[in-house]
Formats: sequence, structure tokens, C-alpha cells
Amino acid sequence: MKISVVGTGYVGLIQSVGLAEFGYEVVGIDIDERKVKLLNRGISPLYEEGLEEMLKKHLGKNLRFTTSYEEIKDTDVIFLCVGTPQDKDGNADLRFIYSAVESIKRHLDDRYRVIVVKSTVPVGTSRKIKERLKDYNVDVVSNPEFLREGIALRDFFNPDRIVLGFGDLNNPKPIEVMKEIYSYFLDRGVPFVITDWESAELIKYAANAFLATKISFINEIARLADVVGGDINTISRALGLDERIGNKFLNAGIGYGGSCFPKDVKALIRQFESRGIEPKLIKATEEVNEEQICWFLNKIKRYYGDLNGKTFAVLGLAFKPNTDDLRESRGIKLIDLLLKEGCIVKCYDYVEKARENAIERYRLNNSKAYYGYNLYVLDDLYEAVKDVDGVIITTEYPQLREEDWEKIGNLVREKVVFDGRNILDREKIKRLGFKYFGVGRN
Ligand code: UGA
Repeated sequence: MKISVVGTGYVGLIQSVGLAEFGYEVVGIDIDERKVKLLNRGISPLYEEGLEEMLKKHLGKNLRFTTSYEEIKDTDVIFLCVGTPQDKDGNADLRFIYSAVESIKRHLDDRYRVIVVKSTVPVGTSRKIKERLKDYNVDVVSNPEFLREGIALRDFFNPDRIVLGFGDLNNPKPIEVMKEIYSYFLDRGVPFVITDWESAELIKYAANAFLATKISFINEIARLADVVGGDINTISRALGLDERIGNKFLNAGIGYGGSCFPKDVKALIRQFESRGIEPKLIKATEEVNEEQICWFLNKIKRYYGDLNGKTFAVLGLAFKPNTDDLRESRGIKLIDLLLKEGCIVKCYDYVEKARENAIERYRLNNSKAYYGYNLYVLDDLYEAVKDVDGVIITTEYPQLREEDWEKIGNLVREKVVFDGRNILDREKIKRLGFKYFGVGRN
């Protein structure tokens, strides 16, 4: 079976490399010439654990990349993995999806093909794609992805479930094709959810919205814990010990970011609203998340009074650990707010590429500083904390626990930590003479 993958972003690239590892002949298609050139040289344009090694392993053998849609002619299955960004009203923008479908259409012939939608698309999109291809010998399958950035390749090979949505469950052809492609998972007992298009599409949004809701829920409880004097970390742990609740995604902090949760929650809200239904719970999830960063900033403000002229070390630029991705990063949002308050910000991230991306984002004049906005991106954590009025933690790097906090205490101007991810050992930090402010654990 020959496979083409349209789009070589996070989803498409992992899909291409993963299917190549299964032994299929795979061609990745992308309109971005620069990206295709890089990939054909074995260079991954994005950072993912183990990705470049696996890319190099299959390149020139059963994996290659091209800008030509004509290559789909030679393939039996086409995975659609193009981006579905947010439009100005918060809806999923399907421009790239439909333009890819049109490009594919130009090269279809009589041969039977399966088109698999992996991009996150609003309910009804697979049906619309099939409608556009009604005169062709194709079946459309919805196969949402549940990969986490940073460990996407690991997630690809160890899925909790495979979700497959079909237009007609009485038509065995596409079902057989998909079962063959994912036979590796079938053999290992991974549950397969075989359903209709609409359910499959909704599963993806519901999964992300549910996880986002867990985060907003615990963040809301944290606000009360802060006032009444509880410890949210202990509360989360106890909640998680109830198997019905589960311990994942219950870490309180300054909110969720990234390219998926904020965008998908918004897009789901729009899907309700466009059908005249008010999504009360999901809207509240979004609201809590949007407010959380201001709630945290107010905590900092309450401590100092006026923030104007204060210097802070912000530890964490990426939206979560081990990625260079700054999209919707709470750390970046906080930096923007601190700059607005007239603060001097010295930031650091363990991932070098995340630091580079931040420099680019703020268009710094050199690698060290953007003097106009009093922002510094430093390559060393201890440099970042030197002479600051407070240290602020914005990304949940476990390494932060192992840092030499005694040394940090000697470098800062004032020993205060605002732990936006509740990552530090509160008692240990306090013993070192720091004032400690977490989220829901004061
Ligand atoms: C998320 C989902 O976890 C994936 O299953 C899904 O496939 C993906 O979106 C997608 O739709 O493509 P990802 O965006 O990579 O994956 O990141 P997560 O690991 O889910 O973290 C999202 C955000 O939530 C981060 O900002 C993180 O700091 C925050 N978070 C996570 C919390 O604030 N508390 C937690 O307990 C967990």
C-alpha cells in the first residue's frame, strides 16, 4: 500500500514518519518549498523527541517529500494533515483543507482511493469533503489525532484509541483499508472506535475541551484555596486518587496554552453558537483560562503595589516544557502584561529554540536584549535571576526543582518567587528565606 500525506506540520510529519516506520512507502506533500527541501535533507523544521532520527532512518528508502500534488496519483491512501487555524471570529478556518482537496481532485483518476482527514475539523467537514468529491472513486474517513506536542512520536506509537469515522458503516472497503494501515495497533489490542463522521469529528473537540475544562476547573478551585488557605497540589492529588476523576490534567497554574486547546475550545463554542445552542460549560472553561493570567498578575501587583520599574526573571517561554512553541504561551502573555506595567523582564527557557523564537517574536536587535521594551532573553538561568525584584515561573519545567535555589537567593535583589506552575517544593524554598506565592497554595 502506498500512502501520501498532505501537509508536513506537526500532524503530517509525525504521520509520515510513523507510517514509514510501519514499512509503508510514504510521500509527504507540502506547498512550502523551503520545508520540503529541509525535510529531504533530513532536517526537521520542528523540534520533536526522536523525530529527526526516524526521519533520517527512512529518507531515501521508503520516505520522501515533494511539493507536487501529482504524486498522489501513485498512492492508495491520502492523509489530509493541513492546518486549520483560527479565523478572526474564532471559527476553524478551512481554507487550507478545501484548497488541498481541490489540488488532490485535479490528480484523481478511476483508481479507488481513501482520503483520511487527520486535521482537526468542525463537525460536518468530512461530509462536505465527500460532497466535493462525489464524482470520484473515493471514500472519506475521519481519523482525528490525539498527539501531544513534544512527545508526539511516542504518542503516535502508543495511542489510547484509534478513532475512525465513516460515511457509510455498511461499506467495508474503507474500513478494511484503515484496519490494514493500523494493523500494528490492532495486533496490540489498542481499542478501535469505528463510528460515523460526525461522532469522530466531535470526539476530537470533546476530548480537548474536556481536558481544558479539567484545567480550568482546578484553576477555579485554586482561587478559593488561595483565600481560605488550602493547598491545591494536595487537593489535586486527592481528587486524582478517585479513579472516576483520574489524576491527569489537574495541575493548577496560570492556564493552558498551545496551538490546540485555546483554538479548539473557541472553535467548539462557535459550532454550538452557529446552531443556536449556548455552550455554558465550555464557555466558562475559556473564560476561566483567559482570566487566570490576570488573576496571577494581580497577585504580583498586590505584593509590590506599583510594578512600574520593577525587574523580574520570567522562567519559561514555551507553552509547556520541551517544546519551542510559543503559541498562546501563558509565559509570553504574562511578559506582555509586565512590559505594559513598565517592568523590566529578563527571561529564560531551557529550550534554546524557544529562546530564539522569543527573540524573533520581540524582534530583538541582538541575541540579548530589546532595549526599547526592556526585555532581555538570556542563555543562562542564573544570569536571568541576577538583581531581580522577583522570580516568576511560567512553564512547568521539572528541572526547576533541581536548580541551586540557594545560589539564586544570593543573586536576586529580593527573595520572592511567584510559582505560576506550582512546581517548586514550597517548604524547601521557604527554608531558604524566599517568600513563596503559588497558585492556590498560599
Ligand atoms: C493537546 C492534547 O493534550 C492532545 O491530546 C491533542 O492531540 C493536542 O492538544 C491537539 O489537539 O493537537 P498539546 O497542545 O500538545 O496537546 O499540549 P498539552 O500537553 O495537552 O498541554 C496543553 C496546555 O495545558 C499547556 O499549556 C499546559 O501547560 C497546560 N496544562 C496541562 C495545565 O495547565 N495543567 C495540566 O494539568 C496539564
